[in-house]
Amino acid sequence: MKITIIGCGNMGLIYARAFLKYNIVSKENLLLAEKNETRKAELLKIDIGKVCVVDDKRISESDIVILAVKPQDFNDVSVGLKKVLTSDNIIVSIMAGMRLEQIESVLNQKNIIRAMPNSPAELGMGMTAFSSSKDMPIEQIRKAENLLATTGRTVFFENEELLDAVTALSGSGPAYFFYVVKHMIEAGKKMGFDESTSAMLVKQTMLGSYHLINNANKSLDDLIKAVASKGGTTEAALSVFNEKEVGENLQNGIVKARDRAMELSK
Ligand SMILES: NC(=O)c1ccc[n+]([C@@H]2O[C@H](COP(=O)([O-])OP(=O)(O)OC[C@H]3O[C@@H](n4cnc5c(N)ncnc54)[C@H](OP(=O)(O)O)[C@@H]3O)[C@@H](O)[C@H]2O)c1
Repeated sequence: MKITIIGCGNMGLIYARAFLKYNIVSKENLLLAEKNETRKAELLKIDIGKVCVVDDKRISESDIVILAVKPQDFNDVSVGLKKVLTSDNIIVSIMAGMRLEQIESVLNQKNIIRAMPNSPAELGMGMTAFSSSKDMPIEQIRKAENLLATTGRTVFFENEELLDAVTALSGSGPAYFFYVVKHMIEAGKKMGFDESTSAMLVKQTMLGSYHLINNANKSLDDLIKAVASKGGTTEAALSVFNEKEVGENLQNGIVKARDRAMELSK
């Protein structure tokens, strides 16, 4: 297998490391097209692939070319990349909000995968949803999925429009989780704990609670009920959350993120 990663920043490097970890590719067959000088020097130092430019002729031989630049850099990248792509290359884009149709027409390619990963991909615990160009051969889709699955779970959506909701839910999701954790730690500090003690109390609580969701065999409502006894402390907190419509506002925020993703992909 030969792979090229275009743009080897945060996400590009996560994929490079994951492919090498699972022996999907050897570093001799992994091309890393990067333009940032500091990043290039780092890539050369860690020696995990061959650093190149976007119009390097060797890219033509890649089974898969991953587009991991920012969406606003895509047009610039496409000028050089178009010169070396062939119809045999499978293109996998992880650029947020860039529709299949746009990528197909700018690159003049037919077989494109559009994927939306999230940041826990770094630990192999990511969630990636993806769609493919119409009539893309199933073997090519599977090949691309095998690569995406090196960073966690994958799910295929026939309807590309759902990727805007995916962006809002699992793409941005880690930030919502960090936001809740941050405010819980702040509450702990207000009640007199130092930062590290509060962080320990909250982080272990989140970890244990996550596992209860999957293992306790109870609905989320039942899990809440099991902690919140009538007239007790948890109920006091939940009544403030309900009064302030925290749940509804969380949902509204996520729908707003979906709307913004739709707007950006126009
Ligand atoms: N980060 C996430 O959690 C996440 C999640 C889902 C999807 N994504 C998507 O993943 C993509 C990459 O995100 P990221 O956070 O990894 O961005 P990033 O860290 O900025 O990485 C992109 C890299 O591409 C380089 N680049 C720009 N133009 C180039 C060109 N013409 N040739 C070669 N390299 C070029 C950039 O260099 P400069 O710094 O010099 O511009 C940068 O090093 C984005 O489209 C984003 O929407 C990210």
